[in-house]
This record gives sequence, structure tokens and C-alpha cells, in this order.
Amino acid sequence: MQDNIIIFDTTLRDGEQSPGASLNVPEKVEIARQLARLGVDIIEAGFPVSSPVQFDAVKQISDSVDVTVAGLARAVEGDIKAAYDALRQSDHFRIHTFIGTSDIHIKEKFRDDRYGKSLKAKRKTILQMTRDAVAYARTFTDDVEFSAEDAGRTDTSYLAEVLEAAIEAGATTVNIPDTTGYTMPAEFGAKIATLREQVSNINKVVISAHCHNDLGLAVANSLAAIQNGARQVECTINGIGERAGNASLEEIVMALKVREDYWGSTTNINVKEIFNTSKMVSAFTGLIVQPNKAIVGDNAFSHEAGIHQDGVLKNSQTYEIISADLIGKSHTRIVLGRHSGRHGLVDRLKALGYHPSDKELQKIYERFLELPDTKKEVFDDDLRMLMGDEIHGLPEHYHLEALQVTAGTSALSTGTVSIKTRDGVIHESAIGDGPVDACFRAIDRALNTDFRIESYRVRSVTAGRGAQGEVLVRVRKGDRVFMGRGISTDIIEASVLAYIYALNDARAAEDEQEAASVLPSDIV
Ligand code: KIV
Ligand code: ZN
Repeated sequence: MQDNIIIFDTTLRDGEQSPGASLNVPEKVEIARQLARLGVDIIEAGFPVSSPVQFDAVKQISDSVDVTVAGLARAVEGDIKAAYDALRQSDHFRIHTFIGTSDIHIKEKFRDDRYGKSLKAKRKTILQMTRDAVAYARTFTDDVEFSAEDAGRTDTSYLAEVLEAAIEAGATTVNIPDTTGYTMPAEFGAKIATLREQVSNINKVVISAHCHNDLGLAVANSLAAIQNGARQVECTINGIGERAGNASLEEIVMALKVREDYWGSTTNINVKEIFNTSKMVSAFTGLIVQPNKAIVGDNAFSHEAGIHQDGVLKNSQTYEIISADLIGKSHTRIVLGRHSGRHGLVDRLKALGYHPSDKELQKIYERFLELPDTKKEVFDDDLRMLMGDEIHGLPEHYHLEALQVTAGTSALSTGTVSIKTRDGVIHESAIGDGPVDACFRAIDRALNTDFRIESYRVRSVTAGRGAQGEVLVRVRKGDRVFMGRGISTDIIEASVLAYIYALNDARAAEDEQEAASVLPSDIV
């Protein structure tokens, strides 16, 4: 085959649609910069029409990186124009427009009679909408991608007709999404092969695959697509994304690299940056990578069984097909101590892929110095957490000034909090079912809030007694969900910080009136 496979990264669009993974704009920009260092060919930065924050993120990302940035748009003029407006300042950008093509999508999403009364009539309308959308997008850029949403479940002959129309109208990439993760690898591969036979103008464009992981087959399906002629794959770091996620970038890239003898294809990915990118995405989204995850899981390079350990010591290749070093996971534990100084901190942050502004750096340095004496060593993961906190940079409506708890096996748990708000400092106490509950109740009293705690997770950032604890809370008010994260060597404090963070997030969303309801009309 010997061609280059184009890596289209959609961590910041489809990946961000992971339940509970909401990134703010500065975090997205930092991740985009890291994706650029990783060497992805295209960054899908968001869905500009869906909210002002999405619009702003796409705009800022396209200002910040020297990689082609794509913006998503439904096959309607308003969406396409919004994508263009978010990207227009860039020299080269892509508009990615999509429409549902499977019978179930057509029947349900285009129920209204204005799209036609029968399935046949509705299919005709979708064909026309495809042509119109692609042609309109082409008036703004010569790089237009068209996706036939739910192509995995779309009748292949109709899919061929839609793709042919999209190419005729000027699409330069046609994407075949397995939106629901329904297809089997051989079936998906065969679909691509059939399309190559049936779509008369297919040779003019790049064929792309976009696979979801509902049956755990997203990577296998993407590779089957490559085997049958796809030359672009859409994927996300750590495989994050809607429901069970998208195809994992690192797994596809490493499969192509480790088995180059088999594939004969390469990518532009600088694989040394894989580990840092995975860690950054996990730290910013709060989505923890499962330990046994291929390539980037904590256990991916650990050998537990005696026979394996013995073999690896004699020759690592006995049980290892990839070295940790290859993906940038260094075996040497570089540890900072409180005497490492500012330079040591900056160098280490840079090595981890972070480029903090002077202001952020100053704050991180202060927090680094504030770490308690019990914490003698500061590990890479500690720094990643500090960076995550600083870059997040939410406006602080509420700030924890002080916290006091009483707890014990035979005592009532009580929590007292002092919270600074724009109107002054509020002090409140409450009793609760344990110290964390007591503090959350005290906060609710102080701020007059009544969020439902949907999930509460605590984990140790690194090992050892002085380890920092990371707390993630997910709270709900009505149909809106907010995430909060806090870190501290004291897990009660981390819990309170996480809860206050979520409340700040909710408050910021209220202020910005950032609402998904901005999405107009009945098609999604
Ligand atoms: O899964 C999907 O179909 C998508 C499209 C918008 C490409 O994400
Ligand atoms: Zn998708």
C-alpha cells in the first residue's frame, strides 16, 4: 500500500462529547497545541454553531496552531456559515458537513413532511441537501469534508448515491462513520470496498473512516477501512467520545507503526508525544485511562508474572512488542523537590508538553512551594494536576477561604466552611453523613444551592503517604451537568474544592448563557 494515512483528530469535538468531559477554551487550546506537537494532520476543534463557547474555541484554536483545523456543521447554511466565521481568519481550514443517511435517521430526524412524505421522497431530499451543503461550503474553502452519518447502517447503494452527489458538488474528503459502532470489521471493510466500486468519482477524493466503539471494534473497523482503501481515519486520544467512545488514535497509530511490515503505511505522528498527550487529555477531561488500556494504560508495560519478568530481563522483546520509551513514557523517574527551583519546574513542564503563560507559571510555582512538607517529592502526575487546575481558569465566583471538620467513629461529622463571594465572606456549618457530606451541606447552606451529586470519585494522583488526592464530582441541576475537580494532599479539602469548582462552572455557564438549546430546528 505504501501510502500515508491521514490522522484526523476529533478529541476536541467528538471526544469532548464524552459524558462528563467538558473542557473550557484555554484547556482546548493547550490540548490543540499538544496535538500539533503530536503531528496530527487535522484537528477537529468543535461544532461552532452549537454554542458561543464552541464557536470561540474553534476560533482560538485555529489562531493558535499551524495545523488544518476543521469545524463541524450540519448540512444547513446557518451551521456552515458559523463554521466558516469561526475559521475564516486561518489560511487553510476545513468545513466538515454531515447529514444522517440511514433509514432510521432519515425517518426519525426528518419526520416532518416538508422533507417528503415517503422514505423515497425523504431520501431524495437528503440527496439534495447534501449537494447544497457541500456546494455552499465550497464557496468558503476548497477543503470540504462530507460525512454520511450512520453510514454503518445505511443501505450501501443509497450511500453510494449520496457520496457521488457530495463529490460532484465539490467534497474533497468523504467520511464513512459507523456512528453507532454497529458493524463488524469484515463488513465495514467490505462496505468501503463496495463504495470504491460503486461511486464513479471516488478516486477524486480521500476516503475516511470514523468508527465508534459500542462493541469494542472501533480500532478494528478503522483498520479494516484502511485495508480497503480508506486513507484518513478519525480518532481521539485515549479513545474518548460519545458513549463507549471513538477509535483510539494511539492504538491505530501504533498498530500501523509496529506492524509496518504488514501495512506498508505510515502516519505523520511523532509517537514519542503519545504518552504526554494521553496524560494531558486525561488530566484536563478528568476521564481516567483504564489501567489495562492498550498503549497508554498504566499496566501496558508492566510485567507481573515471574516467567514474563525473567524473559523481559533477558531480552525485552520476549514479551514486549513496544518499548515504553517509544511512546515517550520514560522509565527514569524525574522527581522535583522543593529545592528544584523555578527553572527545574519550567523545564519539567515543557518536557511534559505544557507551555504555561508567565501568569500561569507564577501561580503553579506558588502552589508547588505551598505543597506541604510531608510531600517531599513532586512527580510528573502532580505537575499535570496543577497545570489542569491553573489552565482551567474559571472565573471564581466562590472561593474557599477556610475549612474545618470534625469527624470520628463516635462523633457527629460536622463541617464549617468560609466562602468568599463577590458580596463578602459567608460562614456556615452543617452536620452530615461523614465529613465530606457535612462540608457539602455547609456549602449548600452558605450559597443557597441544591445541586444533586451524581458521582463522587477520589483517587490518589501518585503513590506514597504524601500523595495528593484528586476528587472529581459531577453535579446536576435540571438537565445540566457540571464537573468539578479538586486536588490536595487532604482529601476533604480536595472534595470541597471540587464541589466549589463545579458550582463555579455552573455559575459561569449561567452567566454566559452557554446553552445547547442554541442548536436550532429539528435536525441534529
Ligand atoms: O459519529 C458520527 O457520525 C459523527 C459525525 C458527525 C461525523 O461524529
Ligand atoms: Zn462520531
